[in-house]
Amino acid sequence: MSKLTWIEQELQTLRDEGLFTNIRVIDSPMGPWLTVDGRRVLNFCANNYLGLANHPRLTSAAKDAIDRYGVGPGAVRTIAGTMSIHVALEERLAAFKKAEAVITFQSGFNANLATIPALVGRDDVIFSDRLNHASIIDGCRLSRAKIVAYEHNDPDDLRRKIAEEKVYNRRLIVSDGVFSMDGDIAPLPQLYEIAREHDILLMMDDAHGEGVLGNGGRGIVDHFGLHGLVDIEVGTMSKAFGVMGGLVAGKKVIIDWLRQRGRPFLFSSAVTVPDAAACLAAVDVLEESTELVDRLWSNAAYFKAEMKQLGFDTGQSETPIVPVMLGEAPLAQQFSRRLFDLGVFAMALGFPTVPQGKARIRVMNTAAHSQDDLDFALEIFARVGRELGVIA
Ligand SMILES: Cc1ncc(COP(=O)(O)O)c(C=O)c1O
Repeated sequence: MSKLTWIEQELQTLRDEGLFTNIRVIDSPMGPWLTVDGRRVLNFCANNYLGLANHPRLTSAAKDAIDRYGVGPGAVRTIAGTMSIHVALEERLAAFKKAEAVITFQSGFNANLATIPALVGRDDVIFSDRLNHASIIDGCRLSRAKIVAYEHNDPDDLRRKIAEEKVYNRRLIVSDGVFSMDGDIAPLPQLYEIAREHDILLMMDDAHGEGVLGNGGRGIVDHFGLHGLVDIEVGTMSKAFGVMGGLVAGKKVIIDWLRQRGRPFLFSSAVTVPDAAACLAAVDVLEESTELVDRLWSNAAYFKAEMKQLGFDTGQSETPIVPVMLGEAPLAQQFSRRLFDLGVFAMALGFPTVPQGKARIRVMNTAAHSQDDLDFALEIFARVGRELGVIA
């Protein structure tokens, strides 16, 4: 037995249980069709909701910025100074989201790791939705605060849990905005009411709502018309914006504090120059027209309705994320492989990404899919669903 034997055994267990993730290799730009492992397939995996990852406005902005600033920011912003392009991005994002201020991070994951431990610590309590994203969970753990999970999207349970916690210094309520595995939306108006009543900090992670929810993709706070009332709105530019990077929008005092105490901001460099420039161009595109966001929603509504008509269980989705519920992980993996054989790339998700026994194929609709693309996918889903006995 070597010191690595246990890892080999664990990997074998994952393979045996159908939970080992094989990562496909893409050899084309991110678009509705991809070359994956040498094959041309229809893409239903990416979070590239608006098709911006290979949009000419973004790619040319990135190239121009490289000519002007080079590629890298050089060091962390607090030590080496910050490039004007990063400052411009934060100002434009704040205006876009109608927030007092914005700070950007290298990723949405880092935004959560920065924000939660900067706001709560050892003697504090965090009320966290039971299905929150891993980056929220890790941010909560890093903070060393007491973590109290409330039932998913259940404001009554949140109220009960708050009443039970009598000893605390500070308190924080944190939830995903859009839950990425199910596509359902957090009941933000009720969460806001509870936070206001009890004077608790409220933080929403709107990674899958950024560029998707709200007027022209301005996010969940805009969707519910709660501008200025939600303390912290985390977002990401690695999904609908098609690039990379995280952001926190909120009151200036909180953003100022994160610049002083957000550890991934203080101890890790900023996103690269082409990333920042492409994100700025994404804001331009979104501010000029709601066309892409509108098309995303109409594509998603069509796909979801047709899948239900075929007899698939698409769960509780209220957004362009469509889970196709299959149950056990091996079936989901078999379904995904068969889809791929027939030209549709849609990943199977199993434990620990989703709970045991709730494996699924997750279909990510985008604005870039054409009507023909959607009809082709529906035909293949129907064929595989019948072959594997999932639908009649
Ligand atoms: C709710 C949530 N937060 C944060 C992230 C991480 O975002 P990023 O890819 O920008 O690190 C994700 C990505 O899956 C997410 O779904």
